[in-house]
Amino acid sequence: MNKRLGIFDSGVGGFTVLKRIVELQDDVSCIYLGDTARLPYGSKSASEIRVIAEEVIEWLKNQNVNGIVVACNTTNSLAMDVVKNLAGVPVFGLIDSAIDMIQEKRVGILCTPSTASSGAYKKNILLSKMDTYVIQQACPAFVPMIEMGQINTNEMRLLASQYLQPLLEAKVDSIVLGCSHYPLLKNVLTKLLPSDIRLIDPAIGLAKTFNSYKESNILMPSSSSKSLLNTRFCVTSDPFGFASRTNHWLGIYPKVELVSLRSKARVF
Ligand code: DGL
Repeated sequence: MNKRLGIFDSGVGGFTVLKRIVELQDDVSCIYLGDTARLPYGSKSASEIRVIAEEVIEWLKNQNVNGIVVACNTTNSLAMDVVKNLAGVPVFGLIDSAIDMIQEKRVGILCTPSTASSGAYKKNILLSKMDTYVIQQACPAFVPMIEMGQINTNEMRLLASQYLQPLLEAKVDSIVLGCSHYPLLKNVLTKLLPSDIRLIDPAIGLAKTFNSYKESNILMPSSSSKSLLNTRFCVTSDPFGFASRTNHWLGIYPKVELVSLRSKARVF
């Protein structure tokens, strides 16, 4: 059976990671899981995120993956140990990639409420860059609005400027898009920010890490078709809605499979 790279997120956010990976590696076979039934992850407790992570990884392992990309900062913040312990294959995460990309001394993090309360970004940045000032800003409204396609709206612009305000007051030099959905707002955010503030998309660093990993380990089988067209898309609810969101963001209209993750009889 053809081995695939497993990529997961709660919804379309992981597309920003998938896109960066296939830009560098056009011959990777991927399986993309959007856990749409439980979106948003970003308002869930640590214990919920950890149980979900277990289920997702067990499911991905059953799909015969040979690598896992955690295309979700919330999972990365609260359950990376769960993922790594269960995976049994190489795991690629966004927070380490973001930290490698940070050069500035005053850094803002835009993220989900769960990522913010975990403090994972701040802790990890300070571990390797002790003299960095870090301010985190939770943006609870972003993910639901992005999933509904409400991007270029006045409401989005107003919310974005409210979320950015504390970071501007703190005079940050760069802002990490600490939720994989947020690069989809890049145009909105750029218009609200002075040009000297750098936006950091951790997916760019992750794709580079994956690229050099793949170059040095011939683990991923080549596929004759283009990676995106060859990607298997799976969701836990609303496959048709997800197919049209895929069309909107990735320019393809895939067959989306409705799947059920091994359940521990818990519904969040
Ligand atoms: N895109 C995910 C993240 O990076 C999850 C967002 C959500 O479902 O709230 O955190």
